[in-house]
Amino acid sequence: FSYPLPVNEPVLNYAPGSKEREQLKVTLATLKAETLDIPMYIGSEQVFTKNKISIHPPHERKYTLGQFSMGDKKHVQQAIDAALAAKEKWAALSWESRAGIFLKAADLIATKYRFHMNGTTMLGQSKNAYQAEIDSACEIIDFLRFNVHFLSEIYKQQPISGPGMHNRLEYRPLEGFVLAVTPFNFTAIGGNLPTSAAMCGNVVVWKPANTQVYSAQMFMRILKEAGLPDGVINLIYVNGPELGEVCFSHRDFAGVHFTGSTGVFNTMWETIGKNIGRYKSYPRIVGETGGKDFVIAHKSADPAVVATALLRGAFEFQGQKCSAASRAYIPSNIAKEVKKKLVEGINSFKMGMVEDFSNFINAVIDERSFDKIKNYIDKAKKDKDASILAGGSCDKKNGYFIQPTVIETTNPQYLTMCEEIFGPVLTLYVYPASAFEKTLDLVNNTSPYALTGAIISTDRAAVELATRKLENAAGNFYINDKPTGAVVGQQPFGGGRASGTNDKAGFILNLYRWLSARTIKETF
Ligand code: SER
Repeated sequence: FSYPLPVNEPVLNYAPGSKEREQLKVTLATLKAETLDIPMYIGSEQVFTKNKISIHPPHERKYTLGQFSMGDKKHVQQAIDAALAAKEKWAALSWESRAGIFLKAADLIATKYRFHMNGTTMLGQSKNAYQAEIDSACEIIDFLRFNVHFLSEIYKQQPISGPGMHNRLEYRPLEGFVLAVTPFNFTAIGGNLPTSAAMCGNVVVWKPANTQVYSAQMFMRILKEAGLPDGVINLIYVNGPELGEVCFSHRDFAGVHFTGSTGVFNTMWETIGKNIGRYKSYPRIVGETGGKDFVIAHKSADPAVVATALLRGAFEFQGQKCSAASRAYIPSNIAKEVKKKLVEGINSFKMGMVEDFSNFINAVIDERSFDKIKNYIDKAKKDKDASILAGGSCDKKNGYFIQPTVIETTNPQYLTMCEEIFGPVLTLYVYPASAFEKTLDLVNNTSPYALTGAIISTDRAAVELATRKLENAAGNFYINDKPTGAVVGQQPFGGGRASGTNDKAGFILNLYRWLSARTIKETF
């Protein structure tokens, strides 16, 4: 069974007056009129508990969208049991049948549930319509279709045989269960992490961030409608430590597919390391973690191109993409013009609820995040080596609103040039235009992360120098573009150093991690 390279799902633009804008508005109103009681999905059961957590739109704190049932260690154990009980049948199913389920889920999103996926993402995670569309519609659809394609390419790869013998590779799933842990910032990561492993014949326990549950349960319902057998993916909501305690001490733990913070990933590695003697096999540990993503402009760069890359790269979805630009290195010859454009841009941004489609900026995810980001901004207002170039106001009365902010610093090692903030804060450092090569070293050595980065330049030699000197500084490196917006099948995504294991989500490299091939030699 061969599934040819698909075409990326076209992005709807929700232009004023368009049919899709009206449909999305109707869906938003419908979703807001319901108060969902969201269960965990364990095997064939929908599990409700007494421990309920309410869901509020980050941009409208007082509104309640519903509640979900929080589980505990017992539910983790039940999810693992359900997964292991489903395993044999699932792995025995033909690859064509398994693929059919995920392709159907992609079609269901494209044709029937697009506005529900986008609506739950907009309300639950405070994404504007366009940011939701490229995430919870297009990127999920692409992940599902491209992963089917990549897996069908892998299955075709076979060793040579000769007279008297027949050699083959059997692409088996891992022995045991896979744990998928997904963050709030992309619904599509929740769409990819559990399904890429499941597609290969694995069974999965999936724990999304609490702030992702509203859209995650929508996707789970679509998978069920597409025919995913009970127990193949089990969706549970539990605290991290309880999840880790049960999963990482389990003999059948086969791997973890993670996106989240570097700190949590490091704790996972340590716990898995301590328990290594317990497992049947060495677990696969795949993670995408933090970032401190850079943009460096060369003296040849057009200030307008630099400013656009920064405004979009740093502030779309309130800077909460792992790929978001958060430190900029601007040469002195164009600094004045770039700064002017940044200030103009920020002053032109509209901020508010997602229901008003003219708002470019919405709220940050929750109070903890709001407070953390605000602390960095407040500190920069006081510190001698930093100042606020634009933005800087924060207000959590109705929702967690932080105005896009540019901090300018005279110190290239200033706190906000080094630490991950995960919010709409960009720190800018002006370097002497003649010191490009030295500044590349600075870019390379300032942060422990290496997720995304960009060079803006019209000088080919400068582009080449940056590409070479920054070869380990970013897993995704962009020339004359913002460092965000990787598209499945076009820019395989992932970084090294403290940013993760660089297993490139949505690309063939990722799928290999969920397979354990058996070599079979038959002699005639
Ligand atoms: N894939 C996203 C981007 O490139 C980040 O997760 O922006």
